Amino acid sequence: MTRPRVFITRVIPEEGLALLRDACAIDLWEDELPPPYDILQRRAAEADGLLCLLSDRIDAALLEAAPRLRVISQMAVGYDNIDVSACTARGLPVGHTPGVLTETTADFAFALLMAAARRIPEAERYARAGRWKTWGPTLLLGRDIYGATLGIIGMGRIGQAVARRARGFAMRILYTDRAEVPEAAILGAEYRPLESLLAESDFVSLHVPLTPETFHLIDARALSLMRPTAILINTARGPVVDHTALYEALTGGQIAAAALDVTDPEPLPPDSPLLALDNCLVVPHIASASVATRGRMAVMAAENLLAGLRGERLPHPVNPEVFDRRR
Ligand code: GLV
Repeated sequence: MTRPRVFITRVIPEEGLALLRDACAIDLWEDELPPPYDILQRRAAEADGLLCLLSDRIDAALLEAAPRLRVISQMAVGYDNIDVSACTARGLPVGHTPGVLTETTADFAFALLMAAARRIPEAERYARAGRWKTWGPTLLLGRDIYGATLGIIGMGRIGQAVARRARGFAMRILYTDRAEVPEAAILGAEYRPLESLLAESDFVSLHVPLTPETFHLIDARALSLMRPTAILINTARGPVVDHTALYEALTGGQIAAAALDVTDPEPLPPDSPLLALDNCLVVPHIASASVATRGRMAVMAAENLLAGLRGERLPHPVNPEVFDRRR
């Protein structure tokens, strides 16, 4: 029997690739950069399965050109790059990698919070530049984390994991979501409407998926509600924040600092004005980037792909309704 053909849009950790080698004929995109859209479309059109990343645009036109495709497996928990409704309309299962990256991502959100609060990247640049002349009573003063108020926007798996870390720092924890989340009370987190959360928090950390509702959730008005001493942390998706408004808020003293793992666009162009600000910390979308977690994500993505190729329910589907319809 001929093996199903799969297009894998980047070299993923070996644990994942190893699962696919025997079972599939692999077409692997080996460049560091993602395949350009026309190549992605062409190669997906020749495949039975597609293993993709959040930097690949999977839209209706691509799907239309790829009638052979039986499964799409994304190595990420977020899937805003995929037109899921178009996939569902044609009964095409989409998989993703929830859960395995929760703790690693929460670790990183907290690392960003601490780095921005205590101005670590700025201080490191200062030391490296040879500017460290003496111990300074007012040198590089930051903000305390212990006892401060943390506002979590989006109290899902990752938001809750951030709250668990915040408890260790004796932080007061507020959260907002579409509705109250039962687990939050156990974590000592209090529900607030978005506006109150913004006004009361010393740190605001974003943990919502990117949807039409969350696009520019943090806009000029939201930023104007925040405290002038507040710090914004984004490990969710770049377009949740209006970057023009953020630049104005950071330069106009409306908020103290921001720490961004995700930006709009990605990558942030080297001439982005945000990159010139000392009070804006930017890193290249690496919140889930630990050796162990990326390995687990690759395995999960491979398992989703294999299940889809066998015509089985994916272990971690984004659109489970496609299976219910098949029964
Ligand atoms: C990373 O941003 C992910 O969605 O997994």
